[in-house]
Amino acid sequence: MNTKAFVTGWPISHSKSPRLHGFWLKKYKIAGTYEPVAVEPKEFVNFLSQFKKNGFAGGNVTIPHKEVAFRIIKNLDPAASAIGAVNTLWFEGDELHGGNTDAYGFSANLDEFMPRWRDGEVAIVLGAGGAARAIIYALIEVGYKKIHIANRTQERAERLAADFGPKCVGHKLSKASELLGETDLIVNTTSLGMAGSGGEGLPDLSFARKTAIVTDIVYTPLRTPFLIAAEEQGLAAVDGLGMLLHQAVPGFEKWFGIRPEVTIELRNYILEA
Ligand code: ATR
Repeated sequence: MNTKAFVTGWPISHSKSPRLHGFWLKKYKIAGTYEPVAVEPKEFVNFLSQFKKNGFAGGNVTIPHKEVAFRIIKNLDPAASAIGAVNTLWFEGDELHGGNTDAYGFSANLDEFMPRWRDGEVAIVLGAGGAARAIIYALIEVGYKKIHIANRTQERAERLAADFGPKCVGHKLSKASELLGETDLIVNTTSLGMAGSGGEGLPDLSFARKTAIVTDIVYTPLRTPFLIAAEEQGLAAVDGLGMLLHQAVPGFEKWFGIRPEVTIELRNYILEA
C-alpha cells in the first residue's frame, strides 16, 4: 500500500512542502504521496485523532497549528519540548509523536554553507517569534555562550530570554547595532527582510566584525535586503532556503524510510516554483 503523508495548516495553499517532498518521492521512486490538507483551527484536534484512520503515516504541521499540536501531543522530542511547537508528526506503534525539525534545519543549512558557524560564541537573533525560539534552541545546542535577542517589542525578547536561561539576554531592536562588535553570528527572523520591505529597522552591519556570519531565515526573496547589506560589508551571508529544505529531511525519513539528500537540483527545483 502507498504511504501517505500530509502538510496541514490554515491556509495551506502557499506551502512549498508538497513540491519539496514530491521531488524526493520521484527521485527515490517511492510509490507514496505527500498532500496539502487545509484544516480549520476548530477541526485540528479532530484531524489529529483521525489521520491514521484515513491512511496517513504522518505529516507536517504549520501555521496556525504548531503550538496547538505541542499542547495536545504527549510524546514530544526534546526540540519540540524546548521550542514549544511541533512541525512533524509520526506514529511509533499506536502512539502519536510530535517533533520539531526547524532547529535541525537551521543548523544543517549553516553546516552546509558556512561550517565555521559552529566555532562562534556570541550570536544575536533579531526577532522574538516562533522562528526565533527554534533558532535559540539550535544555538544553545551547538554551544553558543551568549545569545542576544533583539526585538521591536523588548518585553517579548526578555520573556523569550527568560525561557531559555542565563545565556540569553533580551534587548530592544534599536540596540542591536551596538551589540554587533562582539557578535559572531547575526540571524534575522523578522519579516523586515521580506520582499517589499527595504530592510529598514534592522541593524547597521557596518558595525559588525569582519568575520561575522549573517543569515536570514526569510527566503522570499532569496537575497534579502539584509543579506545584500551583509555582502556589501564583505561579510559572509547565508540565505534561508536551506533551512526549509533541511527541516524536511527527518520527516521524510520517518514516513518513507529513506533519508533524502538536500542537493543543488532540489534547491533549483524549489526556486523555479
Ligand atoms: P515567526 O513565527 O515567523 O517568528 P511572529 O511570531 O509573527 O513570526 O514574529 C515576527 C517577528 O518579526 C517578531 O519578532 C516581530 O516583532 P514584535 O514582537 O515586536 O511584533 C517582528 N516584526 C514584524 N514586523 C516588524 C517590523 N515592522 N519592525 C520590527 N520587527 C517586526
